[in-house]
Amino acid sequence: MKDMTRREFISKASRISGMSLGMFVAGSGMPLPATLRAVQVGFPEKSWEGRGSGAGRTLVAYDSKCGTTGEIAVRMGEVIAQSGAAVDVLKVQNVSDLSQYRAVIVGSAVHGGKWLSGAMEFVAYNQETLCTVPVAYFLACYTMRDPTSENRRLAMEYMQPTLEAAPSVEPVATGLFAGVVDYSRLSFLTSKILQVRGVKEGDFRDWGAIMAWAGWMHTLLGIKGGV
Ligand SMILES: Cc1cc2nc3c(=O)[nH]c(=O)nc-3n(C[C@H](O)[C@H](O)[C@H](O)COP(=O)(O)O)c2cc1C
Repeated sequence: MKDMTRREFISKASRISGMSLGMFVAGSGMPLPATLRAVQVGFPEKSWEGRGSGAGRTLVAYDSKCGTTGEIAVRMGEVIAQSGAAVDVLKVQNVSDLSQYRAVIVGSAVHGGKWLSGAMEFVAYNQETLCTVPVAYFLACYTMRDPTSENRRLAMEYMQPTLEAAPSVEPVATGLFAGVVDYSRLSFLTSKILQVRGVKEGDFRDWGAIMAWAGWMHTLLGIKGGV
């Protein structure tokens, strides 16, 4: 069952009125020099070799600025690997050979009202390959800390530039998750902009929802585990 095709989404999505967090922080999606952050930011990657052979590998690729979307991707990889499937969790910039994957999940943090450019470029550049395998997208954002129907609609809007960047890829599902705001991972300037805008710090991730979605993707993407 598909969540919603791109065509359906475009026709159904209405324009957002009012001011979104994307507008709040427009221009603050600037690179965050490590020297300006209070803590060292890491981007986790992990692989599971799986049991059995011939089932093909699954890729969970992500882009992130402050590291926390990578932690979501790793948790998804863990859930999928529990069945014995071979899984790689990689930052999009480190994916080298897409042809080895039979199913792909791509996710990104939302900064400035859309996926990070690395994730969008990844799907746009690889769309010929990605349209030949089942693909799912996810995002992590502040808006989904309060998953009202209006906020879900706004979060789906964040996905729109990605859908337009890779029109031949039709994701079978789109996971919309709450992320993390941690000022110690941001530059002084960015954290000040967010504070002034009333953005609250917190780890808003709903691990139950993330793991349930990953389990659902195991079925929906036809991922085969070992015996
Ligand atoms: C500069 C900046 C811009 C952001 N823009 C948005 C936004 O437009 N909408 C939103 O819902 N969340 C926004 N967020 C919240 C992030 O999506 C959230 O903190 C996410 O979990 C960060 O993931 P990361 O740690 O992988 O970078 C923004 C955060 C930062 C630091």
